[in-house]
Amino acid sequence: MKKTQKNLTKRLEQRSAKVAVLGLGYVGLPLAAVFAKSGFEVIGVDTDKSKVEAVNRGESYIEDVTSEEVARLVSEGKLKATTDFSILSEMDAVSICVPTPLRKTGDPDLSYILSVAEDLARYLHPGMVIVLESTTYPGTSRELVLPTLTETTGLQAGEDFFLAFSPERVDPGREDWTTINTPKVIGGITSNCSEVASFWYDLALENIVTVTSAEVAEMTKMLENTFRMVNIGLVNEVAIMCDRLGVDVWEVIEAAATKPFGFMKFTPGPGLGGHCIPIDPLFLSWKLKSLNYTARFIELASEINTNMPRYVVDKVQDALNEFSKSLNGSRVLVLGAAYKPDIDDVRESPALDVIGLLRQKKAQVSYHDPYIPHIEQDEWDLESVSDVLEAVGEADCVVIITNHSEYDYAAILKKAKLIIDTRNAFGEIARGNSKVVRL
Ligand SMILES: NC(=O)c1ccc[n+]([C@@H]2O[C@H](COP(=O)([O-])OP(=O)(O)OC[C@H]3O[C@@H](n4cnc5c(N)ncnc54)[C@H](O)[C@@H]3O)[C@@H](O)[C@H]2O)c1
Repeated sequence: MKKTQKNLTKRLEQRSAKVAVLGLGYVGLPLAAVFAKSGFEVIGVDTDKSKVEAVNRGESYIEDVTSEEVARLVSEGKLKATTDFSILSEMDAVSICVPTPLRKTGDPDLSYILSVAEDLARYLHPGMVIVLESTTYPGTSRELVLPTLTETTGLQAGEDFFLAFSPERVDPGREDWTTINTPKVIGGITSNCSEVASFWYDLALENIVTVTSAEVAEMTKMLENTFRMVNIGLVNEVAIMCDRLGVDVWEVIEAAATKPFGFMKFTPGPGLGGHCIPIDPLFLSWKLKSLNYTARFIELASEINTNMPRYVVDKVQDALNEFSKSLNGSRVLVLGAAYKPDIDDVRESPALDVIGLLRQKKAQVSYHDPYIPHIEQDEWDLESVSDVLEAVGEADCVVIITNHSEYDYAAILKKAKLIIDTRNAFGEIARGNSKVVRL
């Protein structure tokens, strides 16, 4: 082992190595806290001043990290935050957790990764380990990050510094599998890079899975999220087919799920949501297009999932029609705006599309979500209604988009005139009840 690698490994082991996490969002703040708890001195770097100030005040703005924990780590001197990138010159180990959205045109927006790579290049020094965690297409670490780091510095990956990719698998709101105990896949640009990055992460996380290259690690994330997206697309189409056949899709799924092998349960819904599943597979299909290959499963699943909000709005329209009402002018209450139950994240939520489409058809739309008090979009903005049961009683139709566990479904069922349940939130209590239309 060369001296640079040996020294870095020693500093990491002794926790004298300084750690920076770039991007203190849903992924970065929990990761920074995990490194700090394992004994490292951690600096979070973010361009968002309000997040930096909140961390330094000892406050968390992410559900998965408590303010008490942030306050304790800050007071112990283990965690602080800054907007000043020059601090990178003092860092030994850096994780990159910046956003990777899609552009409106459907192309990956890698400008955040590129921007931090340029910042890092300015301060790159021998004996540094860098791990990219932002979700992206296979090849990004080697084709984009590596040349940005080496072009101006002349330093060599695997010898002078160490670069790896490690996909983030956090499932916000989940308590059994968290940043610390979810197995972490790591693949480096060279075998030395894999070794150093795995060594570092192994000091803070419970289970490291080292793979042979950055590309394998990048593609692992793509496979995981494509698997979910395609299976959700399949089960959404099964719901549409069952509707045509007059068969209860929920009963079919429960029956299929009794098979002890060879079947994995997925449930239909109003469409995909969140920062990952709707977006990540499109990174892969975009990359494959550049290689003259069409990722057909991804495109088909994406088409089916993207059409689900429209399918739900059609259901609302048809159900109102049964009561001789038009959607135009009807009061429609959407329950749940977050993309999944019991969290406060509205990114890519199908609720946004459903509300938008209902408004286009001139329904009087209101919503309630215990976690999301306000929604602001380009075309509209709404405040969550304050009294959910009163709003249920006043609505011509209630649409369940997110089955938050705190809702009193029995009381909602009693008060509502008509319910479109896209999540089977009412389950058995609504069986045979003609005012409940399930997906
Ligand atoms: N949220 C999830 O559940 C999840 C799960 C798996 C993977 N990911 C991936 O992890 C990455 C981060 O996602 P997230 O949910 O934490 O995003 P986020 O938007 O919550 O956080 C990103 C943070 O990066 C900051 N930032 C932007 N540009 C910066 C820059 N140049 N330098 C430093 N900070 C900068 C932003 O201010 C923000 O605080 C994305 O690639 C995402 O796809 C997210």
